[in-house]
Amino acid sequence: MQAPLAARAARGLSGALRACCTSAPRPGPAPAPRVSVREALGGHSSSGASVQVQGWVRSVRSQKEVLFLHINDGSSLEHLQIVADPSLDNSDLSFGSSVEVQGVLVKSPYKKQNVELKADRIEVIGHCDPKAFPFKYKERYPLEYVRQYPHLRCRTNTLGSILRVRSEATDAIHSFFKTNGYIHIHTPVITSNDCEGAGELFQVEPSSKVKEPGKNFFDVPAFLTVSAQLHLEVMSGAFSQVFSFGPTFRAENSQSRRHLAEFYMVEAEMSFVESLQDIMQVMETLFKVTTETVLSSCPEDVELLHKFVAPGQKDKLEQMLKNKFLIISYTEAIETLKKASQNFTFTPQWGADLQTEHEKYLVKYCGNIPVFVINYPLDLKPFYMRDNEDEPQHTVAAVDLLVPGVGELFGGSLREERLHLLQQRLARLGLTDTYQWYLDLRRFGSVPHGGFGMGFERYLQCILGVDNIKDVIPFPRFPHSCLL
Ligand code: 4AD
Ligand code: MG
Repeated sequence: MQAPLAARAARGLSGALRACCTSAPRPGPAPAPRVSVREALGGHSSSGASVQVQGWVRSVRSQKEVLFLHINDGSSLEHLQIVADPSLDNSDLSFGSSVEVQGVLVKSPYKKQNVELKADRIEVIGHCDPKAFPFKYKERYPLEYVRQYPHLRCRTNTLGSILRVRSEATDAIHSFFKTNGYIHIHTPVITSNDCEGAGELFQVEPSSKVKEPGKNFFDVPAFLTVSAQLHLEVMSGAFSQVFSFGPTFRAENSQSRRHLAEFYMVEAEMSFVESLQDIMQVMETLFKVTTETVLSSCPEDVELLHKFVAPGQKDKLEQMLKNKFLIISYTEAIETLKKASQNFTFTPQWGADLQTEHEKYLVKYCGNIPVFVINYPLDLKPFYMRDNEDEPQHTVAAVDLLVPGVGELFGGSLREERLHLLQQRLARLGLTDTYQWYLDLRRFGSVPHGGFGMGFERYLQCILGVDNIKDVIPFPRFPHSCLL
């Protein structure tokens, strides 16, 4: 049974909350400070300190003389060993149940850990029927199996590690941009434009309006954003270097291992940039610096994935980090594919998009080093990309970064900053009225600029070697599935 909240609060609050509540002293002995498993293991509390730890039971082993318990609270991959008198055991102590343990941190006699908690009180907060719980003690499940339990899979070691890495990578990306002088922009989730022009939009209307079509809530059709780029371009007209990191939505009818209907995109836009080289330099540095930071901030989590989920990935990642990324033009890529001995389902030809099979071949051909493919045919790309004016080919200054195991990880370009060329493009596409505001950006202090977007889930797949994109996001959304 869960103890009354007031009673639990009286026993001890953590950190700042505890500090601000100490003004009204309570009778009786001071409660032991509450620490996380990570803090307990890391020697945050010196050996001999009396502490409280809360978490979920990962194993129970009751022997004649001693009771061993392992608990985890998500703060680290490692569990905290609790050593107790068997009399503290009760029948509710089972795998999966939540507990609060009070005791003294002592140096552990066991080689595997530095510290263990000698308990003098163990309280079960919430029971767990181990027979009904879908995960069993010490079992290692394939990711496909745990995916069936989106509400419980975060309690497995593997998902725990992936989600901790995700959190660290989010921080690392923010700090990369901050260190390099970028301003973070909250771009809208609801928008009236289709940045990529690919028609993969989810429309937004109040649920009450769905049954009576005609009037739009916003007076114009509104959609979930497919990219923050156009809003970032607005901001790059004032702040020079901006970035966003938010959810993006695509109604792509794809069940592939690298597509989601809702995914997170890291996007950057830089003013006063005239060459693709400068943009590629930022992409490569972002990838390498973020990855190095993640590898040093959560090495155990990365190691677990490299060991059990993707053997061989560690070496592949080292190759990616130590080599300079390669650059080939779209035209060279097509020529390479044409010469390949491999039979492709989609015959490579100039003017057609690169398919997954082509991307895979190109990365392999480049020795599994990430490769930038630049200068794509104008007709393949959205209206905003800068015209290379290289007729008869007629390409735009676009760049995609292809990486091993994943394919396209980044997409970016120089933007068309020349008013007359942009006007012609928009007129040809019948978009002049829609993008008057965008043309204004070129009328009032236009500058050469460019940027990119990186799929965050694909980034995690790439560094961790996770095969399916559905396993690197807490709650995957894809066609025919919107669980929870
Ligand atoms: O190449 P994309 O479509 O580029 C843009 O949207 C640009 N407007 C970005 C910019 O320049 N600011 O998407 C960027 C990246 C892709 O390279 C890919 O990694 C990822 O977003 N991505 C997806 N990730 C998961 N599921 C999907 N359905 C994705 N579609 C694109
Ligand atoms: Mg793309």
